[in-house]
Amino acid sequence: MSRLVIVSNRVARPESLSKGAQGGLAVGVLAAMAEAGGLWFGWNGRIENRPVSEIRQERRKNIDFVTIGLRQNEYNNFYRGYANSVLWPLFHQRPDLMNYRHHFRMGYLGVNRKYVDHLLPYLKEDDTIWIHDYQLIPMARMLREAGVKSPIGFFLHTPFPPLDLLRALPDHHDLLLEMLHYDLLGFHTLTDERGFHESIRYTLKGDISPSGLIDCMGHQTQTGVYPIGIETDEMPQLVKSGQRSQEYRQLKKELADRKLLIGVDRLDYSKGIFHRFKAYEQLLKNHNELHRQIVYMQVAPTSRGDVNAYGQLAQQIDQAAGHVNGTYADFDWTPLRYLNRGFRRNTVLALYNLSHVGFVTPLRDGMNLVAKEFVAAQDADDPGVLVLSKMAGAAAELDSAVIVNPYDTEAVAQSLADAIEMPLDERIDRWKQMMTVLERNNIHAWQKNFRADLIARPHDLSKS
Ligand code: G6P
Repeated sequence: MSRLVIVSNRVARPESLSKGAQGGLAVGVLAAMAEAGGLWFGWNGRIENRPVSEIRQERRKNIDFVTIGLRQNEYNNFYRGYANSVLWPLFHQRPDLMNYRHHFRMGYLGVNRKYVDHLLPYLKEDDTIWIHDYQLIPMARMLREAGVKSPIGFFLHTPFPPLDLLRALPDHHDLLLEMLHYDLLGFHTLTDERGFHESIRYTLKGDISPSGLIDCMGHQTQTGVYPIGIETDEMPQLVKSGQRSQEYRQLKKELADRKLLIGVDRLDYSKGIFHRFKAYEQLLKNHNELHRQIVYMQVAPTSRGDVNAYGQLAQQIDQAAGHVNGTYADFDWTPLRYLNRGFRRNTVLALYNLSHVGFVTPLRDGMNLVAKEFVAAQDADDPGVLVLSKMAGAAAELDSAVIVNPYDTEAVAQSLADAIEMPLDERIDRWKQMMTVLERNNIHAWQKNFRADLIARPHDLSKS
């Protein structure tokens, strides 16, 4: 098989992953890379002052990591600007949070070109190139312009918005055209793929075959649905090692007989943490008998803290958490523990294992691997219950979870009460069904299916 070259803005080294809360991309891609080996290119996570970027190459096991830095203005316009103040809110159906500026788009194109220029010397003729996520959409066009002939695929880790929303993006026409330069475009769900098809049909008048082959403006692009999975096999061992941590042992002792509800998210408005706190408050209001019997722990490390919308969110969440505890806490009971920090990955998995309810209610999410890892971290003979938002990509596969609409506060509160009281046989039934899906669609299947389809494509037709 040809060498795999992965490009993603965030590059995760194995040792950095253990610190947790990286987002689905880093976890998933690292697992895929560890199996396939190859080259992983992206940002080193640092802001640098020097005029010419320093490029760092490092080999770990079967992976060559090649990373570069960003200058302050590149970071501002590309990362804080177009990627996280324009595309992220729009793709997560929050155009109200979009802050569009022309120079953000210029910065976005500039950094994509910089990545291409720095990647080119490392490429070999028979490579298979796989680009990841919304930060890097223009790369295929730029690689083709530079003469690269290899197959180039793209995977979107976020949702793709419906046309009515996409139209709010002043450059949506260019963005769609850039996507057509890929040989294969992968989405998490059918809804995302359909949203893309709809935009291609109505905006660019493209033809789309029933199998998802797009013929548009001289490009032939295949689309497909590849829900990202997790490494189910490694879970029991990671849980076991997490159970040795100080945090786990202390919490287990403090909980005594109380049931634990857990949420773990990057502090992001798409995760619905505010709505979740309101639903929990409603639960406490409606169910006196649960007072002192439950504790909800929300782990939410700061993410993109220098993007305006995120700073405001942090304040709102602080207040909402204070309100719950101000209303219901007592000298011997803190109903909501909100921790604005991350934990090691194995500790988090051990906390899932300790929990009675996994509370995963994003307002919009591409996939959500917390939901999948929560399920995989449970014990077969006494599994916890997953309460999952229908707005997460994961709900398309995990339909045996307790599915909720995160905007329906009273219904979420009732579902939590049901989950807390759910009898053991029902918990086991639901868990088994979810595990069957997770084992079938695991991370290996994800990378193998995508790569096989990419290699099978007659690539670069526009140039031949
Ligand atoms: C999501 C995105 C990823 C991103 C991650 C963390 O999972 O899909 O592309 O890397 O969040 O966000 P950050 O801005 O810190 O890279």
